[in-house]
Amino acid sequence: MADNFYDKVARKFGDYHTEHYRNVMECPNGDPEKVFKEKLMEISGKNKMALDLGCADGYFTLLMALYFKKVMAIDESQEMLKAARKLQSQKGIRNVVFEKQDAFKTNYKDGQFEVIYSRRGPTPFIEAFRLLKPGGYFVEIDIGEQDCRAIKEVFGRGQNFGQWDNLQAAVDEKEARKSGFKTVFVQDYFCDEYYLSETDLDIFLQGVPIFEDFDSEKDRSVLKKYVEQYKTEKGIKLPRHRVVIVFQK
Ligand SMILES: C[S@@+](CC[C@H](N)C(=O)[O-])C[C@H]1O[C@@H](n2cnc3c(N)ncnc32)[C@H](O)[C@@H]1O
Repeated sequence: MADNFYDKVARKFGDYHTEHYRNVMECPNGDPEKVFKEKLMEISGKNKMALDLGCADGYFTLLMALYFKKVMAIDESQEMLKAARKLQSQKGIRNVVFEKQDAFKTNYKDGQFEVIYSRRGPTPFIEAFRLLKPGGYFVEIDIGEQDCRAIKEVFGRGQNFGQWDNLQAAVDEKEARKSGFKTVFVQDYFCDEYYLSETDLDIFLQGVPIFEDFDSEKDRSVLKKYVEQYKTEKGIKLPRHRVVIVFQK
């Protein structure tokens, strides 16, 4: 079976945690991760079934499991799922099932879930609409079009390079509405991350798909150029952009 990007990351780091590098985050208009979690908590319930799309190493899934009857968590990276099952047995959490499935074409029944969420994972709106009960919610935190723009411009490449005017919130809302959803909440968040050193930024870049072909050796000089331009007293600045959206069936 072909190794995908996330298989390689799981093999290299053993998981998809953020604990391999040091950074701090400043979000003047609110912390999107906190808002995403709050939105999920608001609609959670110990009598509800949830589906986690693109669960990766399951770290977040296993935190959310406390608030639901059961969480089905899917990913297409076998290596990430291995890490997730290992973490699950370490934590002794029993109401989560990790499965290898394509989020766009799952084998679940119509109307099986009250809540479906995607934390920077896939957003298969047609499939999610099918899988939700009437009144059920789809909650997502997505990567905004301005995310890491500064470093992509210095590198001259990267994920969705140049699509700065392709507003992600609008794209998601259009697709979700076409699938039958109505929007309950939508908000963009612009944050600044500060990496403590060039090494911390380098390690971060090795584990994310911002540049899927990132190579510490080959990209050393261009990374140094970025560091020179974005070095501040707080660390090396990396501007981020997130979108949090809640849709209802
Ligand atoms: C950025 S990671 C998300 C990490 C995870 N949700 C978290 O909270 O840490 C994206 C994950 O989505 C998975 N993925 C991408 N497309 C997928 C698809 N069509 N079906 C299932 N998983 C998918 C990738 O394998 C990867 O593990």
